[in-house]
Amino acid sequence: MKKLKKFFYGFLAVMFAVSMVAVTMVYAGAVKAPTKPLTFQNKKGPVTFEHSIHTKAGVKCEKCHHMWKDKTKAPKGCKECHKAKKTGDVPRLYSMAHKSDHSCKGCHKAFKKAGKKAGPTKCSGCHKK
Ligand code: HEC
Ligand code: HEC
Ligand code: HEC
Ligand code: HEC
Repeated sequence: MKKLKKFFYGFLAVMFAVSMVAVTMVYAGAVKAPTKPLTFQNKKGPVTFEHSIHTKAGVKCEKCHHMWKDKTKAPKGCKECHKAKKTGDVPRLYSMAHKSDHSCKGCHKAFKKAGKKAGPTKCSGCHKK
């Protein structure tokens, strides 16, 4: 009986160790959002984007990184697909930033309409001179 108990606790200890290793591996592999603000240069004036403000507001990564499938790798930059002009079925950069509710301006407008705290919707709120 005593032997069986010892075996049982030993088994539990091993299981615990295995699960901790698994948890650590998952966290180490998780892609994190950049902590520093990102700046986009364009002819209308530079736009600054901060991840932390958005994740704190409850916006999910996939809302913006809408083509992000392989979660072990960092998502692709928007401009890798969205170019100045429409390319194939990829809307142009201008639409990426201003059209539909997962674009910058589009989401701010939708949140504002729903009476929620939102980001800027005026040109000068995003484009600084
Ligand atoms: C509100 C929109 C939005 C949300 C939410 C968001 N991101 Fe981003 N993220 C962006 C934009 C825009 C860029 C800049 C892409 C570019 O340079 O073209 C970016 C860039 C990145 C990059 C750098 C990619 C590169 O070009 O090297 C990583 C990594 C990243 N995001 C991870 C995340 C993760 C993880 C989350 C969720 C915790 C997240 N993002 C949530 C919009 C967002
Ligand atoms: C791998 C290519 C790819 C990447 C990377 C990508 N997109 Fe897209 N995007 C597309 C395609 C294709 C469409 C059109 C089909 C659709 O809506 O899914 C689209 C559509 C959109 C639309 C809708 C525009 C409209 O006119 O309705 C928005 C907004 C958008 N993307 C924002 C972003 C943002 C923001 C990022 C970066 C955080 C990003 N996309 C990264 C390929 C991409
Ligand atoms: C799906 C919704 C959503 C998308 C997409 C989104 N935002 Fe926002 N944004 C918000 C919300 C919500 C806030 C307000 C957060 C708060 O004040 O707590 C915000 C706040 C901001 C602010 C104000 C920050 C401050 O200092 O108060 C800026 C600037 C901004 N967003 C820029 C951008 C840019 C640039 C993009 C596109 C790359 C973008 N946002 C995409 C929802 C969104
Ligand atoms: C919520 C933030 C936001 C607001 C509000 C906003 N923009 Fe933008 N705009 C962006 C972002 C982000 C880009 C993409 C920057 C880049 O990557 O070059 C952009 C790009 C542009 C570009 C360059 C497009 C290209 O193809 O090079 C023009 C022009 C522009 N915006 C005009 C405007 C005008 C006019 C208004 C007001 C009616 C406005 N924007 C409001 C965020 C915003």
